[in-house]
Amino acid sequence: MQKRILGTSGLEVSAIGLGCMGMSHGYGPSGTKQEMIDLIRAAVDRGVTFFDTAEVYGPFTNEELVGEALAPLRDQVVIVTKFGFQFDSDGKQIGLSSRPEHIKQVADASLRRLGIDVIDLFYQHRVNPDVPIEEVAGAVKDLIQAGKVKHFGMSEAAAQTIRRAHAVQPVTAVQSEYSLWWRRPEAEVLPVLEELGIGFVPYSPLGKGFLTGKINENTEFSSNDIRQVIPRFTPEARKANAAVVELLQAIAQRKGATPAQVALAWLLAQKPWIVPIPGTRKPERLDENIGAVDVDLTPDDLSEIEQAASTLTVQGARYPDHLERMTGR
Ligand SMILES: NC(=O)c1ccc[n+]([C@@H]2O[C@H](COP(=O)([O-])OP(=O)(O)OC[C@H]3O[C@@H](n4cnc5c(N)ncnc54)[C@H](OP(=O)(O)O)[C@@H]3O)[C@@H](O)[C@H]2O)c1
Repeated sequence: MQKRILGTSGLEVSAIGLGCMGMSHGYGPSGTKQEMIDLIRAAVDRGVTFFDTAEVYGPFTNEELVGEALAPLRDQVVIVTKFGFQFDSDGKQIGLSSRPEHIKQVADASLRRLGIDVIDLFYQHRVNPDVPIEEVAGAVKDLIQAGKVKHFGMSEAAAQTIRRAHAVQPVTAVQSEYSLWWRRPEAEVLPVLEELGIGFVPYSPLGKGFLTGKINENTEFSSNDIRQVIPRFTPEARKANAAVVELLQAIAQRKGATPAQVALAWLLAQKPWIVPIPGTRKPERLDENIGAVDVDLTPDDLSEIEQAASTLTVQGARYPDHLERMTGR
């Protein structure tokens, strides 16, 4: 597996990571715990070294799963988690909190659940407008000095907020949604990351599964699948957005690849400091997604994709309003 370095930080990870969220959260029923542990370990076998979880996935259970799966392989992997939400005493998420003392409590709790003594990369999951970003960066700086965290990250932050945070504690990576059907980071965030030497980790790089071609207007989602409430996933929107998948299919056919692989290869081709983290619960899809590193998109392929994409308009918002409002701050 090829390796990449996130910005100028020196943090080296496999060119494709594994998003572990769906194993506990967001996409309906998963496999058994043992199947998920086997999947995570199979990923390490295949050279994946970059594993993404968060306090809020479950909540809490995904960190335990990832920690248990990676315990025997700890020295081979980079374990990433995220802070920034607040929970009531029943573990129900009730909003955002990035107060410095809260961040420090979350770090200790995440270390305990993951069963590790240092978090390799600790992202603020969403910017909390009630707490100046300098205080957040300062809290993570303290955690780094205390040896509990190695690298600082941010998720869905605005360019200006990234700049302010970076001035207090260098940011190693920003993780935000990015794929052929969600390209907002190109406008302001990617140029700032390039300027500051910060790596970029596209989440939902397969468009929450849509870009793989395995979802169409007839696909049914279970009641606890987040795609039930995403405007881009209404049956009408899925029908209208089939053109994006057709574009990927056409390139895939020519390359002897799959649409998922072309979607990931397109991200890898944007910048050498971009590391997508597709999520899957299925071993054969893990192999397929990892195979994207061998799909070489030529400059001609890339301009063909660009040209075709510029004629398409994606229907439907990527998040319902209350979730979209938490981004880009
Ligand atoms: N920072 C944030 O706010 C944030 C937000 C969302 C996600 N994330 C992170 O990013 C990771 C990835 O994002 P994501 O899971 O939302 O979306 P994604 O990786 O774009 O897509 C995941 C979906 O695609 C399906 N899938 C995966 N590979 C496939 C393939 N080769 N063929 C067909 N279907 C395939 C998966 O189903 P199966 O599992 O059934 O294979 C799942 O439903 C998450 O696991 C999480 O760690 C972060």
